[in-house]
Amino acid sequence: MTTNVKPRMRVLAAAIALVGATAAHAAPDTAVTNKQNFTTDVIYQILTDRFVDGDSSNNASGTAFDSSCSSGTKVYCGGDWQGITNKINDNYFTDMGITALWVSPPVDNIDAVITYDRANTAYHGYWARDFKRTNAHFGHFVDFTAMVNAAHAKNIKVIIDFAPNHTSPSSSDPAFGENGRLLNDGVAMATFNNDVSNTYKFFHHNGGIDDYNVPEKVIYKGLGDLTDIDQNSGAIDTYMKEAIKVWLDLGIDGIRFDAIKHMSFGWQKNLIANIDAYKPVYSFGEWMMGDSNPEALNTAFANESGINVLDFRFSRKLRDVLMYGTGTWADFNTVLSATGSDYKRVIDEVTFLDNHDLDRFQYASNTHRNLEQALALTLTARGVPCIYYGTEQYMAGGYDAGTNRQRIGTFDKTTKAYLITKDLATLRKSNPALAYGSSQERWINNDVYIFERKFGTNVVMVAINKNQTTAVSITSLLTALPNGSYSDVLGAKLNGNAITVSSGAVPTFNLPAGAVSVWQYTAATNVAAIGHVGPMMGKAGNTITIDGRGFGATKGTVYFGTTAVTGANIPSWEDSSITVKVPAVAAGKYGVKVTTSGAVSSNVYPEYKVLTGDQVTVRFVVNNATTSSGENVYLSGNVDELGNWDATKAIGPMYNMVEYVYPNWYFDVSVPAGTTLQYKFLKVNGSTVTWNPNANQTITTPTSGTYTVTTSW
Ligand code: NOJ
Ligand code: NOJ
Ligand code: CA
Repeated sequence: MTTNVKPRMRVLAAAIALVGATAAHAAPDTAVTNKQNFTTDVIYQILTDRFVDGDSSNNASGTAFDSSCSSGTKVYCGGDWQGITNKINDNYFTDMGITALWVSPPVDNIDAVITYDRANTAYHGYWARDFKRTNAHFGHFVDFTAMVNAAHAKNIKVIIDFAPNHTSPSSSDPAFGENGRLLNDGVAMATFNNDVSNTYKFFHHNGGIDDYNVPEKVIYKGLGDLTDIDQNSGAIDTYMKEAIKVWLDLGIDGIRFDAIKHMSFGWQKNLIANIDAYKPVYSFGEWMMGDSNPEALNTAFANESGINVLDFRFSRKLRDVLMYGTGTWADFNTVLSATGSDYKRVIDEVTFLDNHDLDRFQYASNTHRNLEQALALTLTARGVPCIYYGTEQYMAGGYDAGTNRQRIGTFDKTTKAYLITKDLATLRKSNPALAYGSSQERWINNDVYIFERKFGTNVVMVAINKNQTTAVSITSLLTALPNGSYSDVLGAKLNGNAITVSSGAVPTFNLPAGAVSVWQYTAATNVAAIGHVGPMMGKAGNTITIDGRGFGATKGTVYFGTTAVTGANIPSWEDSSITVKVPAVAAGKYGVKVTTSGAVSSNVYPEYKVLTGDQVTVRFVVNNATTSSGENVYLSGNVDELGNWDATKAIGPMYNMVEYVYPNWYFDVSVPAGTTLQYKFLKVNGSTVTWNPNANQTITTPTSGTYTVTTSW
């Protein structure tokens, strides 16, 4: 054996040792401390008030409280963080394989009872009053911290819901509700009817959204009667950035942003850039969609804002096929491939069967098996799976009646839904094909869908027969599974079967009626392969996490494009996880590549977005820009954030209906902080571009807060 072969052999020996050790030691990419990558996790969504009452001393009282939690009630039922902690400690989540909890917005909400069709309270947490304090009915900070610590001790991450779009309902009557009031750690800031005027304001006063097809109105008008926060206010911007730090400092692992369709792209990009420069965590937002059709702005948000999205396209079609019986497997397969190309990082988007804003999956009159199949599919498909509390107990309420948010009643650990969740959550941790793999359809007809996930030599193949009375003969099935016999990972809990594989083909077999079969193969490797990078946007000096397989035990090199990063700028290096500092390269998109100490190079993980630097939100306003029919005004400038003078990357179309009205135009943009920028407006009509003929404009952006710059065309 020559000396230069030895290190390789050692890596191989270490890799082989790792195979035997996987049961005992989680690979770093699956550890609870990895807050940037949730692709190996299964999220469990909890409405805190509707889970477990662990401390009756914090319960609401009078008409704000319903101890029986009667059907469809919209007042508090008593659930709290102590209750969640109790269930963490009794292993309800661990025994189901759950490794992340999404809890209701934890912040202080209004106490008022508002009577619409019935008495309503802020039991859901979406009627904020003070983003720096806790909802006292959920607990105090000490209870929140106890929950986070208990979760981390069981390898469970904690995601908070965060809703900076609005406070609570208000109207022109100051006595209605609490008039949308907002407090800063106990100190009054504003109410809807006593907003600060002239200098700046905290809320929008543009009425409610009257056309959901006009993005500008969706952003700058109010969602229902909720008091719409003006994120372009410098005081609000500072307040929200301070508030999210309160929760980051308490150790949260992830953020679910509420109502992202209703806030400007620029401010949200700016917010997440600030978060990722401070304590980077995984984040995803709710961009509500009624069907599986693509929405260009949703796609752009998922790909360019730095925040991932809930995958409504996947979920709507899944429901069509397995819940309502109105869609086919062919439709589902079409959505899988369309989302796979539209979303640049489809493995980071969050998939689900149902949630608190939809009928529960079991609400439709179908069998438990429909739900079990949908669950198995979601847990094995690309994306981060999220299970709404009670799905594992077959809870069945509807949205209109409010019964989709009933208190959970049973904690049966022997339901099939519970047990298969455990099997597949465990597989997601042990076989990286589920977290990182490509997706390929392998066999399809009206009843059967067979698909395969593959990452390197790791393979998972899943077969579903939704016909619950007739078995289907599966002929000519091809697979990437190597030669051998494969038992069903679910142990036939859903009537699955074993298969054999020979030269990439599976001999004809019967897939039983109503079956789900899952077959898998995993092996250690010394071929470096990146499966995930997160977060995917940031400035030089930020620390990001690269996960995959085969990086080896010894520190090598990370490349951003052609720029090599080595030594102290790689704080940690393990076989399946690396942390690295973003190098000082020009702003723009870079492929990320790993080269091991043994000179094995990985795949290139595309489009890490390097920002010019710290970010602030600037509102650009141009007055008197008259346009002809079909023509719109855009913004360009000399930094990457403004498209670097490339008209095809110009910012816009700018808005001209709500905050400013035609022929005046405005747009909120995340730009480098404390920087002197050149910019210019342009008119675009199809491929015809007309640049403003004047000299470039110049501004120096502030180092913090927001800024509005107004010029005339
Ligand atoms: C979407 C949330 O999921 C929903 O439950 C809430 O009422 C609205 N956003 C407003 O916050
Ligand atoms: C790019 C130039 O660099 C910039 O100065 C100019 O304003 C625009 N093109 C429009 O002509
Ligand atoms: Ca309680």
